[in-house]
Parts: sequence; C-alpha cells; structure tokens
Amino acid sequence: MFVAAIVVLVLVDGGLIYAGIKFRDRPGHTAQQFHGHNFLELLWTVVPTIMVISFSVLSFQKLNVMNDTSGAGMTVNVQGQQWTWIMNYPKEDRFKLTDGTFLRGAQELHIPVNMKVHIQLSSKDVIHSFWVPNIGGKKDAVPGRATDLWIQADRPGTYKGQCFEFCGTGHADMLITLVVHTPDDYGTWIKSALTEANRLNDPATKTGRESFLALPCTGCHTVLGTTAAGKVGPDLTHIASKKSIAGGAVSPVNEDTLTRWIHDPQALKPTTQMPNYHLSDQQVHDIVQWLLTLK
Ligand code: CUA
Repeated sequence: MFVAAIVVLVLVDGGLIYAGIKFRDRPGHTAQQFHGHNFLELLWTVVPTIMVISFSVLSFQKLNVMNDTSGAGMTVNVQGQQWTWIMNYPKEDRFKLTDGTFLRGAQELHIPVNMKVHIQLSSKDVIHSFWVPNIGGKKDAVPGRATDLWIQADRPGTYKGQCFEFCGTGHADMLITLVVHTPDDYGTWIKSALTEANRLNDPATKTGRESFLALPCTGCHTVLGTTAAGKVGPDLTHIASKKSIAGGAVSPVNEDTLTRWIHDPQALKPTTQMPNYHLSDQQVHDIVQWLLTLK
C-alpha cells in the first residue's frame, strides 16, 4: 500500500507541478478554455476504483491470517482490567502450582521464541486494547466477550507494549512487557516463576494475602506476581527486605513496626497519604504475616 501510495503521489503531484509550470499565465500565452475529457475522466475513475478494490481484497486476506489462531503452540488468556493486564498461562502441568491453580502474571507476558502464541483476550471492566507494536497487530479486550489474536516473535528479547484504548486515568500506565525466551531459557523462567508464585501462594499466609488483595491496598500498591498493581504508593514486592519504609518512619521493618504502621499510619507519619482502614487486630496480624514473606 505504501509503495502504491508513493507512485500515486509522484504521478499526481508531478503532473500538477508540470502543468502548473508549463501552462501558467505569462505574456504571449493565452489560456486555452475547454470542457470535459472523456479519456482522462475514465482514467481517474477506473484506476482508483481498481486500486481501492484490490486494497480491500488484500486487507481481508491479511485479516483472515491475523484472525487464524489455528496451529498455535500455546494459548494464554490475557485479561485487561483498570489498569493492568493479567496473564493466565495454560492449564498444563508445567504451569501448575502446588495449590493446584495455574501460573498467572501481571503486566509481563513470557513466551518462547518462534512459537505461534494464541492470545485470548477478555476484560474485567471497560474496553482495553492489547498492542505490542514490534510483534503484531492490536486487538480490543471487550467486557463480556472473548476476542482472539496471535503473536509470534522471531527473536528473543524484551518488547514494550501499551494499552491502546483510553480506559480511564491509569490508561497511560497500562503497559505490557513481552519477554521472548529461547526454548531452554523458557523452561528456566517457568521454574523460577513457579517457585516465586508458590512462595506468594503459601497456604500459611493465605488469609493475610487474601485480605490484602481484597482491600483497597491494591489500588495503590504493587506486589509483583499478584493482582496488586497500584502505582500511587510504594511497590511492596520486596518490602520485607527493606531497612525502612514510609520515608524512614517505619524502621526497621519487622512485625512490630508493620503492625503499628497499618493500625494507624498517621501516628507514625502524620503526612502519609496511606489511609487508616481501621482493620481488626486479626486482619492486621494476618496481613503483616504475609508482608513479612515478601523478601
Ligand atoms: Cu486499558 Cu487503556
């Protein structure tokens, strides 16, 4: 299409400039008045018609190729939600966690190189659009309806993508990181992702984790590997390894300080934006037990 458009541009603008110079009004020349030219009119009706029809046919053919997810090596279910992407890996043994569920991720999508990967798109709330420009076309994720596309990367590496449908205030932050691995490397990644997910899913800290993920905490904080993907507050993925948090107001980070902090953040740091949710002692205890495993 680009080549055809360049040819048309050169022909049309070339003719225009040529005629403008050659037939311009100047002393000794009189403008020739005429009306209609059957051949030319036929030419500029028939040629564009043929071109537009061919472009439509080509586009439809390409669309069929883009929509054909058959022969895909794996299917990942990708769900858009305000404002992150949840990647649900296939329900295959190699992605199975110790608690019987399957590997999930947020924002980052890991796939092997040279494999056709079927992306099954859905949305939890509003319309989002999945787009990794260097890898393929974009497709909307529509609430209440599954849409499909497929991607295939020819080279290992990290590719950046972005939600392409305005979906609210966090739209600009709704990024996608596509990581393409060599086959060996992919196996290694799955192992480490499973280890990490199993740690995050430890049954011993289940109550605290579920409280945390159900409370508004996730609106502000990110914990990689979970659905918590807020951007307003600090990232808590490695909170238990930190020397201090809340700008030094909570130091050192241990059971006692975290408990006091969550009970009443303003008591430790009057200017903090973290609200006091007046959680029960039990809730705070459970959440702290979970946070302490985030090393
Ligand atoms: Cu999701 Cu824009």
